[in-house]
Amino acid sequence: MKRERVLVCAVSLALAVPFVVLSQGTASAATDYQAEDAKISQGTVATNHTGYSGTGFVDYTNVKGSSVEFTVAAAAAGPASLTLRYANGTGTDRPMDLSVNGTVVASAVSFPATADWNTWASKSVGVTLKAGSNTIRATATTANGGPNLDRISLGTPSDTQAPTRPGQPSCSDIGEDGLTLSWGASTDDVGVAAYDIYEHGNKISEAAGGATSKALTGLAPNTPYNLTVIARDAAGNTSPASPVVDCTTKPSSDSTPPTAPGTLKAAGITANTVDLTWGAATDDRAVTAYDVRSGTTVYKSVTSGTSTTLNGLACNSPYSLNVVARDAAGNVSPASNTVSFTTKACATDGGVPSSVATLSTGWTIPWGTYWMPDGKTALVTERDDFRVWKVTKDGAKTQVGTVPGAVTTNGEGGLLGVAVDPKWETNHYVYFMHTAAEGNRVVRMTYDGTKLGDYKVLLQGIKKNRYHNGGRLAFGPDGYLYASTGEAQQPDLAQDKNSLNGKILRLTTDGKPAPGNPFGNYVYSLGHRNPQGLAFDRNGRLWEAEFGNSSKDELNLIKPGANYGWPTCEGNCNVAGMTNPKATWNVSEASPSGIAIVRNVVYMASLRGERLWRIPINGDSESVGTPTAYYVGTYGRLRTVTKVPGADQLWLSTTNCDNNGGAADGSDKIFRVDIS
Ligand code: GCU
Ligand code: CA
Repeated sequence: MKRERVLVCAVSLALAVPFVVLSQGTASAATDYQAEDAKISQGTVATNHTGYSGTGFVDYTNVKGSSVEFTVAAAAAGPASLTLRYANGTGTDRPMDLSVNGTVVASAVSFPATADWNTWASKSVGVTLKAGSNTIRATATTANGGPNLDRISLGTPSDTQAPTRPGQPSCSDIGEDGLTLSWGASTDDVGVAAYDIYEHGNKISEAAGGATSKALTGLAPNTPYNLTVIARDAAGNTSPASPVVDCTTKPSSDSTPPTAPGTLKAAGITANTVDLTWGAATDDRAVTAYDVRSGTTVYKSVTSGTSTTLNGLACNSPYSLNVVARDAAGNVSPASNTVSFTTKACATDGGVPSSVATLSTGWTIPWGTYWMPDGKTALVTERDDFRVWKVTKDGAKTQVGTVPGAVTTNGEGGLLGVAVDPKWETNHYVYFMHTAAEGNRVVRMTYDGTKLGDYKVLLQGIKKNRYHNGGRLAFGPDGYLYASTGEAQQPDLAQDKNSLNGKILRLTTDGKPAPGNPFGNYVYSLGHRNPQGLAFDRNGRLWEAEFGNSSKDELNLIKPGANYGWPTCEGNCNVAGMTNPKATWNVSEASPSGIAIVRNVVYMASLRGERLWRIPINGDSESVGTPTAYYVGTYGRLRTVTKVPGADQLWLSTTNCDNNGGAADGSDKIFRVDIS
């Protein structure tokens, strides 16, 4: 109870001493005088409209000379701001003369229309009052009389004058983490409320209006500070900036580094970001920052907390990060543990083939192309002379050997696909699919980076024929080798689960059926006619392209154990137990061999169609968008397309030297295609 009474008392006191504020220069406080309490000449007190304050308002009689006179008190002589609250529900201005102590100080002041009689507006003018009691009168100057007048308010005049520029600052008591800044005082007509202290463009501290020095703390050791002072008054007017002083803190005496941060963990990895957390380090003084690093390269400094989200990482890229703690002296702790991760696949789907450059010439039916794990060179096979080449990213080629035992079929057989073991760095294994005396084989050789050696048959007994030998090899993300085999012109073999022909096979690097194969043998999928395109997408899914017979070529999404229909179906057929392709083409427009995937788009090299097909995968769905064709007829028959590692580029090779193309030996080429 007692406490409430004290509060009430304080409020009444504030109201009773209105003019104290004047001398302080603040614009906030004002004192109200109700018109209904004033001396009214030709007017009445009314309440017939809403929104008035006090107990009513004055309705001026609609004659020239009607007036209201207020008696107000001023604590001291000086300027004041007079505000009249009024309503004018007509469309016509109701000007009034304003007088102070009998003298008109503002004549015919406009009181224009205010929407309606319930809508109140304010009009302010500057007046000068004497100390003590004053009279303020508002007198109508037209026959319409005054507007309805609710009250007047007297406030402090607005302060528009800024303090003067502070004098030259100087530094004293310079320590390793602080100093004292002093400056010459500013003056102001009302008063300096505060001094703001800036380091270059940033406010780092402030001092009270009466002060001319300030102890600055929390500074960094051995660090230059460029200091200025700006004065401001209570109304917010700011002085010009003082002259500058440059002061450098003393070198730190701290030589003890923080302890190593605790366990660093990476989570929430996206294509471009990672969330990192670590344990706090300790320091004899204080840890001021943590640096997130790759090796000793700082990626980000964190000045508060023990976690951060690191942005701007490259997609599909490996990172190894550690974190160290720093103190104010710059002492660096030992590194935390290192966390390693690979960012997620690049999110940007799409892109289209743009520029084409001739990478390498002098080829005769280059068939298989496969990149080494380091992404610097690729191995390329030639079908009919069984040579194997190393080709650098710049297109320089060196022969590394030939594959023994290979024969042609005077058609489509010969040395076909090549694949490099994902663990080549340690085992030096490379794999070939080629036609041999008894049929088609998958074989393993060694390659030391310069020469081919050894030769081991992993799988034979794949029937051959002049045409339809398949021949593509590719390693899956599961580390197993996938091989595409043709039906060797015996269509029914494609439907025989115990035949190696007309299949996608999946085998170990030692030539055994891969574990988990759907029928317990080498067969991974069946019902293929002559598949020559294999590529894995960012979701690890296998896409396949195959030649149709007389009507439809197919792009398929391969599932283990699925039956892709040949010879019952060619293209879509909707037969129970058979899987439709994702896209089809007339054989004259495609006849596809190799496929590659860049930015979630399948590129398909086409022989008879002499074009590169672009087939966008619809996000991570199992459907594809509308195919579009590039370079129709420009480069001839296109055999193999591969993604260049680490780049949005393709290598694209021709087969113009075969019996269908008829070009002279040595006239095939490999192109580099930019996707952008
Ligand atoms: C109306 C209105 C009054 C106003 C008068 C005028 O009568 O209700 O509040 O004062 O018009 O025109 O002055
Ligand atoms: Ca001022």
